[in-house]
Amino acid sequence: MKEKIQQILSELENLKCKSQKEVEEARVRFLGKKGEVTALFEEFREMGKELKKEYGRSLNELKQNAQAKIDALKSEVGEEAGADGPKQDLTMPGDPFDLGSRHPVSIVRQEIVDIFRKFGYDVAEGPEVEDDYHVFEALNFPPNHPARDMQDTFFVSAGHPNPLLLRTHTSSVQVRAMEKMNLPIRVICPGRVFRNEAISARAHCIFHQVEGLYIDEDVTFADLKQAILLFAREMFGADSEIRMRPSYFPFTEPSAEVDVSCNICHGKGCNICKGTGWLEIMGCGMVDPNVLEASGIDSHKYSGFAFGMGLERIAMLKWRVNDLRHYFENDMRFLKEFNTSIEV
Ligand code: DAH
Repeated sequence: MKEKIQQILSELENLKCKSQKEVEEARVRFLGKKGEVTALFEEFREMGKELKKEYGRSLNELKQNAQAKIDALKSEVGEEAGADGPKQDLTMPGDPFDLGSRHPVSIVRQEIVDIFRKFGYDVAEGPEVEDDYHVFEALNFPPNHPARDMQDTFFVSAGHPNPLLLRTHTSSVQVRAMEKMNLPIRVICPGRVFRNEAISARAHCIFHQVEGLYIDEDVTFADLKQAILLFAREMFGADSEIRMRPSYFPFTEPSAEVDVSCNICHGKGCNICKGTGWLEIMGCGMVDPNVLEASGIDSHKYSGFAFGMGLERIAMLKWRVNDLRHYFENDMRFLKEFNTSIEV
């Protein structure tokens, strides 16, 4: 009996289980009805008084020991693993969880919105599927203007005379703002636009713009210049300068292209600004009186300015992205370059 007890004790001590199934097998082996410990108790029952005295205590200890070992093994193997699932290694690192980050175009849009909000502008949005009237007609595009051509515009329906199309610029939202909002109007309109362009490093059929519009009494070109200068300094650095070059848009008169001083070479000339010291950032101008009148605004009393810029272009200048296609490929290696903390 003594040796048997010793033997079981040392077996228990060395006992290892990998699954709940093995723990259960061990329990049956030692403590089950026909188990080894149970068998010793049966032997014990037949013993004389003297022997009972000798072994009673150690047998009881053996049983407790066996039960404690089985309990310990049970919790060590882990309940979650199931009857025969693998033992869980709690020291393993957790599953990597990609939080993601904001897209560079979203970051730039938010920055622009924040800057103009400070200047008192509201944000307006309009439909991406627009009609010819809001994209062209009300913006003073003559009927034969090339922008209305199938080469540039994705038409959705052929409706005559006002077909539905995918807006080619966010200037359509300024028309909707002029129709709906009370004067004075101060809005910026961020949004997605579509043009039938071959996709290359410098052009895409989908891109984003931000449109700006300010209409009030006595708004002048000087106000436009000042608004854009302040914007450029917030966006590209406090020492930025702007210059304007005469241009043409059907909906503004006069019209201009705006360049900002190159924030890399500070005007000395580098390969980013192609040696000129200037980077083109937007188109702008004084809203053409025809455009005001088309939306029911008295052009004798009110005047205004408008501007429009491409978000991908601004982001390209800001971060020196050299290929427009990167923005649309959802390559995590590219997107992670702009990892910013996400405010919640
Ligand atoms: N809509 C023009 C474009 O897509 C950008 C633009 C230029 C908007 C001048 C304006 C503006 O409001 O005044 O190229």
